[in-house]
Amino acid sequence: MEKFTATAVAHPNIAFIKYWGIKDHEITIPANGSISMNLAGLESKTTVEFLAEQQSDQLTLNGKNITEIGLERVSKILDFVRLAGKINFAAKVISENNFPTGSGIASSASGFAALALASSVAAGLNLETNSLSSLARLSSGSASRSIPGGFVEWIQGEDHKSSYSKSIAPPDHWKLADCIAIVNQKHKPIGSLAGHQLANTSPLQTARIQDTERRLDICRQAILNKDFIALAEIMEIDSNMMHGVMMSSSPSLFYWDPPTLEIMRSVAEWRNNGLPVAYTIDAGPNVHVICNQENMKTVSDQLKEIPGVINVLSATPGGPAKIIN
Ligand code: DP6
Repeated sequence: MEKFTATAVAHPNIAFIKYWGIKDHEITIPANGSISMNLAGLESKTTVEFLAEQQSDQLTLNGKNITEIGLERVSKILDFVRLAGKINFAAKVISENNFPTGSGIASSASGFAALALASSVAAGLNLETNSLSSLARLSSGSASRSIPGGFVEWIQGEDHKSSYSKSIAPPDHWKLADCIAIVNQKHKPIGSLAGHQLANTSPLQTARIQDTERRLDICRQAILNKDFIALAEIMEIDSNMMHGVMMSSSPSLFYWDPPTLEIMRSVAEWRNNGLPVAYTIDAGPNVHVICNQENMKTVSDQLKEIPGVINVLSATPGGPAKIIN
């Protein structure tokens, strides 16, 4: 029995400068560039087997068989790999996250990054980081940022090849931590895929896009200089701008729950009192609180005191996607 197989692991990432809005849906060219940090400790592990006897692509995610849109997104990457690797076999894909599903942490970034790496290696392709990142991007924009390690910038680009992510600093460059305050474990009512499509209905999106280079420059410099206050300020403004676009879209998208705002206010107060902390929020109510690793326990304990906080997960800067067999 002929088979080609590989297993890869990848971390999710948290964006400091967010990607919101898509210019080309077919190949996920974003409306703006973005910057993120990979999250060590949280990971997706994905095994791809191209099998001669397999009739069609099959996806098992955390033990559940997934069909329709979830499977279509997987096949999009597999189709690209089959074409490049000259393989006609369908594949069995088994993916697992070590973080709880419904914890509010998006698994699409880590899942599709691990899939891109595992499938390309299984097919005998030896893609370099840029090409792997472009490949992962086809099915999930943020997945392109989970291919390289540490602190990562996704270059917007204009076509498949020029839109990819690269590392701007390795994981050990800066001892930061992300304390993730979970306030709601339910699936979001509008996923980011549908949300991206509404971005242009907000009149604020044009202004947000026009100002992107400025925010990217400040964020990149803050990371390179390890300037926490500069990072904190730009990260919070960027998150607020994205949520401003979401709230002013038609129909409007409100991702926050009451405890979300409570945490944002507490974080601002803690920073005013001298604790280096900053918040950023994705397309959901949970709050990512960035701090120095030495303050991880304090921040996590303080977050747990806030009414409505169900749990706090923490992560430090993570490495690149890698093959494990
Ligand atoms: C708000 O690339 O995660 O997290 O993979 O289609 O779910 P899907 O979209 P995704 O969108 C990310 C949106 C964001 C901001 C960001 O991570 O940059």
